[in-house]
Amino acid sequence: MRVLQVCAEIFPLLKTGGLADVAGALPPALRAQGADVRVLLPGFASILDGLAEAVEVGTLAPPAGMSASGARLLYGHLPACNVDAYVIDAPAYYHRAGGPYADADHHPYADNHLRFALLGWTAAALAQGHDPYWAPAVVHAHDWHAALAPAYLRAAAEARHQRMPGSIYTVHNLAYQGLFDARQFGDLRLPAHFFAMHGVEFHGRLNFMKAGLYYADRISTVSPTYAREIQGPEQGCGLDGLLRDRAHELSGILNGVDESVWNPATDTLLESHYDAARLELKAECKAALQRELGLEAAAGRPIFCVVSRLTEQKGLHLVLQALPALVAQGAQFALLGSGDAGLETSFRAAAAASPGAVAVKLGYDESFAHRLIAGSDVIMVPSRFEPCGLTQLYGLQYGTLPLVRRVGGLADTVADTRLETLDTDATGFVFDEFSAAGLLQA
Ligand code: ADP
Ligand code: GLC
Repeated sequence: MRVLQVCAEIFPLLKTGGLADVAGALPPALRAQGADVRVLLPGFASILDGLAEAVEVGTLAPPAGMSASGARLLYGHLPACNVDAYVIDAPAYYHRAGGPYADADHHPYADNHLRFALLGWTAAALAQGHDPYWAPAVVHAHDWHAALAPAYLRAAAEARHQRMPGSIYTVHNLAYQGLFDARQFGDLRLPAHFFAMHGVEFHGRLNFMKAGLYYADRISTVSPTYAREIQGPEQGCGLDGLLRDRAHELSGILNGVDESVWNPATDTLLESHYDAARLELKAECKAALQRELGLEAAAGRPIFCVVSRLTEQKGLHLVLQALPALVAQGAQFALLGSGDAGLETSFRAAAAASPGAVAVKLGYDESFAHRLIAGSDVIMVPSRFEPCGLTQLYGLQYGTLPLVRRVGGLADTVADTRLETLDTDATGFVFDEFSAAGLLQA
């Protein structure tokens, strides 16, 4: 089956979160099951730099208003990702100082609706045969950035009275919906009747996520529990009604781990290699981590770690509140993260207050994430909500016990340690109550 995966980021070329890990891991995993997978990506500088043997495919003619002067569609190979890719080379849209979605001051780009409409529109063009040599049977769009692909496919089906390739839309995080002013709908050149409650309209605004949820043939999200949670008002982010209506077309499919990237037996970023049979070598990773972070060199002190975006979602103020008690009990703590300025300041202060026991590294550092997870004893993910979560899976892979809140994919991937599960299926520690006391108790 020919599958076109449409997404805004892909590991290792461009990553802001778990979406990139999954987008990078899925094509080879599907290929191993016999699928013929290509990806479609916006031409951010790091993606174009990673594209080998690029050739131009046809002439891209997006609707007026989305013209991005001189946009070209390239096809080539991404050796770093081991996948063939279409890349939209539109410098006016994608070559910007700052991140893929927002400028250096974290302000979303004012023309994001156009930048990502072009992604969805191009996916639909490929599905309609833009490349005479390859057309997908299924378009697989990820998160709001790619969510207009099913809408453009539906529009084409209506205009041509033709069946289009199938579409599936995967929700990685319902909290980021791609909301825009209603006036911007006109720029998308979708049929006017799409701006309706049964369509992309959401409380008078334009909602990209809703386009994916409404027009895709099938919907998936990244864990079975999250698939249930988002059908309720508490976690439905206003879209739970639509998700309930489509419940029979919605599945929760758990994310996996790419073992070519996350495997302590082969991970070249580590001080020593280990696996379940040579667990004593993990102690060398721990000693190296304590040296690197200036933590007291104490083999017997458990290191609790966090690798995370610093946002409200992740529940990290619980960690801040629990930290003094944790340290008083003899634990060490190390965090790698970046994001919210208030959380950054608080964690920096926590490290200053407990030198030798608490270490904090602010910023984004892929290789340090590996060393930190390998060298720690426990990895904490106390999220308020969590569609799947990957760092607890990396913890399981690295013999670093996950300590998580029972929510979303965390509930599906970690089995709590109780007397009756200790010798059978226990894999970590799970707590329910969203409080520092709940975390400390676990
Ligand atoms: P989310 O996608 O919500 O951020 P996930 O747990 O699914 O959460 O994925 C997070 C990914 O980002 C993991 O691969 C994790 O190791 C990585 N990560 C998060 N913060 C950092 C950081 N500061 N430095 C390096 N990697 C990070
Ligand atoms: C999102 C979610 C996270 C999930 C990741 C990959 O960023 O916040 O829980 O693991 O996507 O699917």
